[in-house]
Amino acid sequence: MRVAVLGTGTMGAGMARSLLRAGHEVRVWNRTAGRAEPLADDGATVAPDVAAAVEGADVVLTVLFDTDAVVAVGTEAVAAMGPDAVWLQCATVGVEGIRRVQEVGGAQLLDAPVLGTRKPAEDGTLVVLLSGPEALREKAAPVLDAVGSRTVVAGDEVGAASALKLACNAWVALLTAGTAQSLALAGALGVDPALFLEAIEGGPVSVPYARLKGSMMLDGDLAPSFAVDGVVKDVGLMVDAARTTGVPTELLEAVRGLFAEASRQGHGADDMAAVRTVFP
Ligand SMILES: NC(=O)c1ccc[n+]([C@@H]2O[C@H](COP(=O)([O-])OP(=O)(O)OC[C@H]3O[C@@H](n4cnc5c(N)ncnc54)[C@H](OP(=O)(O)O)[C@@H]3O)[C@@H](O)[C@H]2O)c1
Repeated sequence: MRVAVLGTGTMGAGMARSLLRAGHEVRVWNRTAGRAEPLADDGATVAPDVAAAVEGADVVLTVLFDTDAVVAVGTEAVAAMGPDAVWLQCATVGVEGIRRVQEVGGAQLLDAPVLGTRKPAEDGTLVVLLSGPEALREKAAPVLDAVGSRTVVAGDEVGAASALKLACNAWVALLTAGTAQSLALAGALGVDPALFLEAIEGGPVSVPYARLKGSMMLDGDLAPSFAVDGVVKDVGLMVDAARTTGVPTELLEAVRGLFAEASRQGHGADDMAAVRTVFP
């Protein structure tokens, strides 16, 4: 298939490479051109603008930072893409955000946020959360197969997948902040924090993610897979969605405060494991 990838940040670059490996014809565009150019070595065509990227594409994939970016770039894309093209929207934009995106994308839009970070994006092993009309889902299937190991269909209505994504990312943010909390508490109480990870290993409260992020925290490895500022953006979307539906927000607010503080301390572009630095 001819696929346009708009946004070649951490996720977009990996997804473009997975599409190329699967044999698709890939055109990439990024606001900062220098971030898209390395993909030429992998066989992608680097487009000078959005219109050139999406012209003739079967599927247009957006994986930009937030709703404003998706709406702005999507408006340009819709004006230039063919009437049969499918817009596969993979950024995390939340419930209100996907409504704004749908006003632009109309009947061509599939809601397709993803679970997984840099490595699964590069390996083509993301979990795609998908909602939208079945006919579009079928059209996009080869692209979904290339970027993901699994697709969870959340429904026929655009918006269901973005709602599910918020629930999933609440879990990810809480787990990471919780891991930092336990490591900090262990250290403050005079035991080796690594023993916390050893103690939970293999038992019913063991979570591979705690080992992954906890090891990064212990090693001070903050190379970004999912940056702190992205978490602050996502938890903000969760708080908004919770407020409008009457779900208590105390826990989310506390977690948002921790990640926001990490960002204030200069860790906005570091991995979310940097939340550990907020605890003494
Ligand atoms: N990283 C993860 O683990 C992960 C996992 C699942 C979902 N997501 C979601 O996927 C999306 C991308 O995440 P990422 O980690 O790849 O972020 P990233 O590395 O920060 O990349 C963000 C991308 O958005 C572009 N962008 C930002 N503002 C823009 C604007 N106003 N107009 C045009 N382009 C703009 C950036 O362009 P420039 O290069 O020019 O700045 C870049 O291509 C986000 O919605 C994120 O929440 C991330």
